[in-house]
Amino acid sequence: MNALTRCLCSYWSSSIGKKLVVAITGLALVVFLAGHLSGNMLMYVGRDAFNEYAHFLHTMLHGVGVWIARVGLLVMLVLHVAATISLTRQNRAARQPYEYKATQKASKSSRIMILSGLTILAFVVFHILHFTVRLDTDLKQLGATDPYGMVIVGFQNWLVVLFYLIAMTLLCSHLSHGVASIFQTLGLRSKKAQGLIQTFSIGYSVLIWVGFVSIPLSVIFGILKL
Ligand code: HEM
Repeated sequence: MNALTRCLCSYWSSSIGKKLVVAITGLALVVFLAGHLSGNMLMYVGRDAFNEYAHFLHTMLHGVGVWIARVGLLVMLVLHVAATISLTRQNRAARQPYEYKATQKASKSSRIMILSGLTILAFVVFHILHFTVRLDTDLKQLGATDPYGMVIVGFQNWLVVLFYLIAMTLLCSHLSHGVASIFQTLGLRSKKAQGLIQTFSIGYSVLIWVGFVSIPLSVIFGILKL
């Protein structure tokens, strides 16, 4: 084992090392969400604007750009989930029975984080099969020529819309706690800044929720149409 591998292993086995991995990968995913939402808002500008944006994403850097982004995102997601699972196991193993009551509140909040995190993971798998792999043959044909039309057709089913609404609500709950935790882990949560960080975390989560749920709802209620 060389020095770098040994250093990485000891970093990973420490709880602070894993917390930093969760915070940094979480930050990258938070930035991705802001970018993805901004792009999706082009649905309101019109078919041409959204289709040009989708075309740009698929052709930037001669088609390599989208794959760099996909690999980067996947690495962030896998590290985020792996570090969280490992941290939860480590905390459980370290907990003494007499400490149980004192940590009950923290456990409840981390259980909610795990539940919302797993739902978001299931959502991402469904979402990729829905709009990127396009298992539905109608969506597959539209996706290649008219991504705007693909999103409109993709949200014609109430069950799909309902699943998006539930997943976005859990995403909002996950973010409202997660964004504040990022500041804490990175040592940026001073007593003075605490109120501001709380307001920013909740404001960001609500913005993400409103933006993302607005699209399936606008489609199903006929505000966005073909
Ligand atoms: C209603 C809300 C959303 C809409 C309308 C939407 C729309 C889309 C579309 C059209 C694509 C396909 C891009 C392409 O390949 O051309 C896509 C991909 C993707 N979306 Fe979303 N999205 C939404 C919410 C989300 C959320 C909340 C997340 C994360 C939690 C997310 C994560 C992703 C990921 C990871 C991809 C795959 C990127 C790729 O590999 O091509 N999306 N989305």
